[in-house]
Amino acid sequence: MDVQVAVLDYGSQYSQLIVRRVRELGYFAKLYAPEALPDLADLAGVILSGGPNSVTDHTAPDVDMDALERLNVPVLGVCYGMQLLNQKLGGDLTPSTTSEYGPAQLKIGDPHDLFKDVTEGSQIWMSHSDTVSRLPEGASILARNETGQPIGICFRDHWYGIQFHPEVTHSHDGRQVLKNFLACLPAEPGFDVEAFKQQLLDDIVKEVDGREVVCGVSGGVDSTVLAVLLHKAGVKIHPIFVDTGMLRKGEAEEVQEQFAEVGVEIDTVYAEDQFLDALEGEEDPEKKRNIIGNLFLDVFFKHAGSVELFAQGTLYPDVIESATSGSIASRIKTHHNRVDRIMQLKQEGRVLEPLSELFKDEVRALGRSMGIPDRALDRHPFPGPGLAVRCPGVVTREKLDILREADDIFISTLRKTGWYPKIWQACATILPSRSVGVKGDVRAYEFPITLRAVISEDAMTADWVEIPFPVLREISNKILNNVRGVNRVLYDISTKPPASIEWE
Ligand code: XMP
Repeated sequence: MDVQVAVLDYGSQYSQLIVRRVRELGYFAKLYAPEALPDLADLAGVILSGGPNSVTDHTAPDVDMDALERLNVPVLGVCYGMQLLNQKLGGDLTPSTTSEYGPAQLKIGDPHDLFKDVTEGSQIWMSHSDTVSRLPEGASILARNETGQPIGICFRDHWYGIQFHPEVTHSHDGRQVLKNFLACLPAEPGFDVEAFKQQLLDDIVKEVDGREVVCGVSGGVDSTVLAVLLHKAGVKIHPIFVDTGMLRKGEAEEVQEQFAEVGVEIDTVYAEDQFLDALEGEEDPEKKRNIIGNLFLDVFFKHAGSVELFAQGTLYPDVIESATSGSIASRIKTHHNRVDRIMQLKQEGRVLEPLSELFKDEVRALGRSMGIPDRALDRHPFPGPGLAVRCPGVVTREKLDILREADDIFISTLRKTGWYPKIWQACATILPSRSVGVKGDVRAYEFPITLRAVISEDAMTADWVEIPFPVLREISNKILNNVRGVNRVLYDISTKPPASIEWE
C-alpha cells in the first residue's frame, strides 16, 4: 500500500490530526517535513498544514513549488499552508500584530465542490496571524468568515486553501470539507486495516530476515498487538514478560492466558523478590522509579541473552512527540522506549518498530482483526513501574497485597456496572499513613485506600469521573468488608493539573 496523501508539517499542533482524519476517510496519509516533498513521487494529493509562523517572516518554513508543480496532484493549504500558497502564487498578505484563534462562521459564496454538503453559517475553528489581502491571478474566493475575510480560496484547478482547521471537531463540517477535497484526488481510497496488516507482515518478514526477535510484553495494548503481529508474520520470536511483583491481582496469569488464546507462548520471568529487595526502605518516588526501570532492563536483557533484533511497540504519536516536544508525556515514553541501551541497539539497526505509523485506535483495529479479545484491547493504561507508584512511601509485600485486593474490587465493580469503558484510567492507591477506626467493637488502626477514575485525551490533562454514589457505595462496602487492613475508602476529586493521575 503506497502513501496517497502527504501532509507537510509546518508545525501546527494539529498536523498529526490531519493525517488521522485523512486515514479515517480511507486514504493512506503520512506526515512529512516540507523538505521531503521533492522525494515523494506517486502521491495522489498534498496537504500543507497550519503552523505558528508568519509567512512574511524570512525564516518561515517554505514549500518547494517546483516539486509541487511536478507532482501535478490536488493540493490543500490549511491556515499557514493557505497563506504560503497565496504568497508563492503571487498574492499578498497583511501581517496581523496578533494571532487570532477560535470560532467563526463559514459564509459560502457560489456553491463549489469543496463546500459540497457543508451547512451555510456552520462553525469553523480559525487560526491565523496573516490575512490574505490580494489573491494571485486567476484565484477566486469560495468562502468568507462573518467579517468578510477570505477563508476558502480556489487558487487553480484542484489547488485550494482554507483558513480554518478542518481536522478539529470544533469545525463542525471540517470532515466534510476534507472529504470533498479527497474526492478530487486521482485515486480511490486505499487505506484499510487488512491491506495495511498484510503490508506490515510482508515488511516484517523482509526486515527480520531470518533473525530471532526479542520483545517485551506487558499485557498492554501496544506490546500485545506487536507480539501477535510478529507471531502472525511467522518470524521466530522470544516474547518476555517480567513479573516485577508490582502487578495487579491475577495479572500475570491473565496475560499468559490472553497470549495462549491467540497462540503465542510467552516466557515469564518471576522477579518479585528481586524488585522488593531493591526497593526496600526507599520512599523517594523518583528513586523508586529509577530502581524499577533499571532493574527491569537488567532482568530483561539478562534473560534475553544476546539480542539479534529487539522489537518494541512504539506508536506514531510517540515518534512525533519525542521528535517535536519536551512534554511530560513524551518524556515518560522516552524513559521507556528510548533509554540508552535501546538507543544503542537502534544505532546498530537492531530495533524493529512495526507499529510506528499507527495511531492507538488503528492499533486496536489491527489487534481486533488478528483475533485479540476486546478485553485485552480496551484495557486502561497501566504505568511501567506498576503498583509501586500507587503505594506512596515504602513498598512492602503487605501493602501491595492489600492494594491488589482493593484494586481488584474497584475494577471488577466498574466492569460489572458498565463504567469501565467510560473511564480513561481508574486506579486504587494505598496511602502511607494509617487511621483509627472501629471494627467489630475493637479499635482498628489501618490503611486508607483512595480511588481515582479520570477521563483524558492524552494524559496531559484529566478530569475526575462522576461515578454515581450507589456505585461508589458498593465499591466502598466491598473493600471495607473484604480487604483486611483497610478501614477507610476515599474518592479522589482532583483535576489534573494541579494533581497528576498517579499519586507518585
Ligand atoms: P501522571 O501521574 O503523570 O500520569 O498524571 C500520566 C499517565 O502516565 C502514566 N504514568 C507512567 N507510565 N511510567 C509509565 O510507563 C511511569 O513512570 C509513569 N508514571 C505515570 C499514568 O499511569 C498515566 O496514564
